Amino acid sequence: MKKPFVTHEKLQEITKEYPTPFHLYDEKGIRENAKALQDAFSWNPGFKEYFAVKAEPNPFLIDILRDYGCGVDCSSLTELMLSKVMGFAGSDIMFSSNMTPQEEFVYANEMGAIINLDDFTHIDFLEKTIGHIPETISCRYNPGGVFQIGNSIMDNPGDAKFGFTKEQIIEGFRILKQKGAKRFGIHSFLASNTATNEYYPKMAKILFELAVELKEKTGVDICFINFSGGIGIPYQPGQEKNDIAYIGNELRRIYDEILTSNGLGDVAIYTELGRYMTGPYGVLVTKAIHEKHIYKEYIGCDACAVNLMRPAIYKAYHHITVMGKEDEPHDHKYDIAGSLCENNDKFAIDRMLPKIDIGDLLVIHDTGAHGFAMGYNYNGKLKSAELLLKEDGSVQLIRRAEEPKDYFATLDGFPIYDALSKEKQF
Ligand SMILES: Cc1ncc(COP(=O)(O)O)c(C=O)c1O
Repeated sequence: MKKPFVTHEKLQEITKEYPTPFHLYDEKGIRENAKALQDAFSWNPGFKEYFAVKAEPNPFLIDILRDYGCGVDCSSLTELMLSKVMGFAGSDIMFSSNMTPQEEFVYANEMGAIINLDDFTHIDFLEKTIGHIPETISCRYNPGGVFQIGNSIMDNPGDAKFGFTKEQIIEGFRILKQKGAKRFGIHSFLASNTATNEYYPKMAKILFELAVELKEKTGVDICFINFSGGIGIPYQPGQEKNDIAYIGNELRRIYDEILTSNGLGDVAIYTELGRYMTGPYGVLVTKAIHEKHIYKEYIGCDACAVNLMRPAIYKAYHHITVMGKEDEPHDHKYDIAGSLCENNDKFAIDRMLPKIDIGDLLVIHDTGAHGFAMGYNYNGKLKSAELLLKEDGSVQLIRRAEEPKDYFATLDGFPIYDALSKEKQF
């Protein structure tokens, strides 16, 4: 049984002040999980988690993670800007981008971020763009083929647009060294939302062996290995949470076996986890506002795919709790739909739930990463607020809901402000 981190009573109290829909985050859960990650990798003195800002670009939440030593993994200009204003600088920032525009490399370099190159041609591109090769540099590795654990195919790196091939990374490190790089890193991301504890250990073997080979063939100083994101969360009821202590221990064993024994015992382990850090500690709270009985039974709610895109684009499962009805029989089969003019705007299809009445509060689970962040404005829909349920039980508005004037803000030269500014909804 998946239980929300917030009670029905508390949610009723919150909705008196803040109208639905909104994303609500759990400070306590975020803190406990971040601490467990640090503990699991405490054997590695250089360990650092660079939180993937793309998963949840909210400075109030990133600030909580900073208490546990987290830096930031940025993939765009605006993520870098946000990090800059938050006071991140230098090696607290990993810039892991791809198909990168010139101005983003310039900005990352000015901030002293560690630049993680996605492609062999970016060596030349970066040098021409910023005028030199930084002393610390990282390259993203793509081993090609399929990435398999046991008999199950986890993902298909051979079809992915990311990273250097094996030959390219060896040649790339040689060139970067000639051009003045002194400290090298290897980065890889081979599977997303992995539900097994064996993902990082399996990748460790690949990356640690690559590090030994790169050192032998190019003589570079490998300072860090970045496992990026990819550790999954239990979206489905009954699914087990990944065991981060086990994953940390396994990496330590493989590290000693491959790196320490080859004279690479001072390499730092880095991660760029997003989903694992905040995913389970966020929910989308929405209200049932319509019921519709045609060929199927529908509940229409006041959130839509603009607030959470994953079900629409990936057919992703997000558990739903009808608040206050947790113990009632789940004997009604519903499609839970939003208001977009798109038939894929459904948070659940054929889901067995208790009878839903208009006004019921629905909690859509595990929206704390790649949830709000993926939001968009199709149909002119506006993005919701974000709220933080603090450890002391109080609630903080950490991002206000968009208003129509935000949606129209880029229509420079069109007199929309003059025409609408007196309307109360504006
Ligand atoms: C380069 C990079 N790092 C980290 C992440 C975070 O991944 P996750 O949220 O699965 O941990 C992503 C996700 O897309 C990514 O592209």
